Amino acid sequence: MSNVAKIELDGTVYEFPVVVGSENEKAIDISKLRDTTGYVTLDTGYKNTGATTSKITFLDGEEGILRYRGYPIEQLAEKASFLEVAYLLIYGELPTQAQLDEFKTSIQKHTLVHEDMKQFFEAYPAKAHPMGVLSSMICSLSTFYPESLDPNRSAEAKNLTIHRLLAKLPTLAAWSYKNAMRHPFMYPRNEFDYCKNFLYMMFAMPTEDYNVDPVVVEALNKLLILHADHEQKSTVRIVGSSQANLYATISAGISALWGPLHGGANQEVIEMLEKIHQDGGDVDKWVAKAKDKEDPFRLMGFGHRVYKNFDPRAKIIKKACDDILSKLGINDPMLEIAKKLEKVALEDEYFKARNLYPNVDFYSGIIYKALGIPTEMFTVMFALGRLPGWIAQWKEMTENKEPIGRPRQIYTGETPRDYVEISKR
Ligand code: CMC
Repeated sequence: MSNVAKIELDGTVYEFPVVVGSENEKAIDISKLRDTTGYVTLDTGYKNTGATTSKITFLDGEEGILRYRGYPIEQLAEKASFLEVAYLLIYGELPTQAQLDEFKTSIQKHTLVHEDMKQFFEAYPAKAHPMGVLSSMICSLSTFYPESLDPNRSAEAKNLTIHRLLAKLPTLAAWSYKNAMRHPFMYPRNEFDYCKNFLYMMFAMPTEDYNVDPVVVEALNKLLILHADHEQKSTVRIVGSSQANLYATISAGISALWGPLHGGANQEVIEMLEKIHQDGGDVDKWVAKAKDKEDPFRLMGFGHRVYKNFDPRAKIIKKACDDILSKLGINDPMLEIAKKLEKVALEDEYFKARNLYPNVDFYSGIIYKALGIPTEMFTVMFALGRLPGWIAQWKEMTENKEPIGRPRQIYTGETPRDYVEISKR
């Protein structure tokens, strides 16, 4: 294998180093391209651009592989707890029991949010989308912890911010739902584990006892693990590279996740399935709509920028969906429609030719629905799961002292021209 790439430009041959990752992925290191040749690369949507080297998550879209710090997602989803996975992503190794206990205790200490923040909720309309509320609330945390604005503070102080975020995001997420319902906020219960505490804050009422079903806790644990990281969806790294504080950086990650082509797809999927159901359940008609280039409709929950064979998370979620619905004794017609839709699409030439398979969002909404989570909260659940991955990406980037992220462009606008007085235009 060659360890240099040769590029000929305007009659001169330039050599650039080839970088090889631990899983034998190869990249041409073009960091000196502009300095040496005057050229830049053009790659709209970054389909071929490696933004960094990273030790966190390995993803092979052709083989359908996803590993966090080397551990297969299938094993983690089956055996680990969400906080164990969060520790693994952020600190690089699975924790010992003592390390996990210390991590949990530290997070539990910070689950409350400042009482003044409760007033912010009151200012939002009842119909406010919880993703809008959550991203603003997370950014607002920076105003209560102004020391987090100092990019040069100690590693210990940065770690405290990490623990605060892990502790407070579930509280703020659950409260954004309570606010939409105009229900009283439930304070965190620190004797509960992470997932149980979140469900308690979402669904309990001060007027009566609330028993969290262990099947629901286990299902949530699995879903959060499956969402915990997905390598380079680079918003967090780009924003963090400007040395913006961690709260603002994570808030930007939440905003980027919200879009229907990304994490917002889980809400879109269930709304699509409900529409198909109300329309009589004719899946062929909807598959035809998705193929029609004149029709903006896309089959939500299908296709992925990186997975071109299958999404390993979707495989786990499909099985979990069957298990959880049967354990909870739920018979949801949406599941039948989803399965029919998947079958028709997978046998269709259009989808086969474009390698379009169900992604993580295709079945996750059906599980969230079975757990009693309202549709508008689905993307918030994704954010709750993705938080440790975002933190890990930010931590790695800042520790590696990566430069500010700032892509170039090829300008295609007007060449210089003189200002024309308004009366003459
Ligand atoms: N339904 C119908 N056609 C599709 C779909 C779909 N869901 N996805 C892609 N295509 C077609 C697209 O029209 C294009 O066709 P053509 O080559 O004829 O122009 C071709 O497939 C390639 O699509 P693309 O948009 O260039 O592919 P991409 O890699 O840029 O986009 C995607 C990936 C996820 C944005 C896209 O597949 C999509 O819009 N899917 C639906 C939304 C969705 O489920 N998003 C959640 C992604 S998983 C969560 C996460 O990790 O973010």
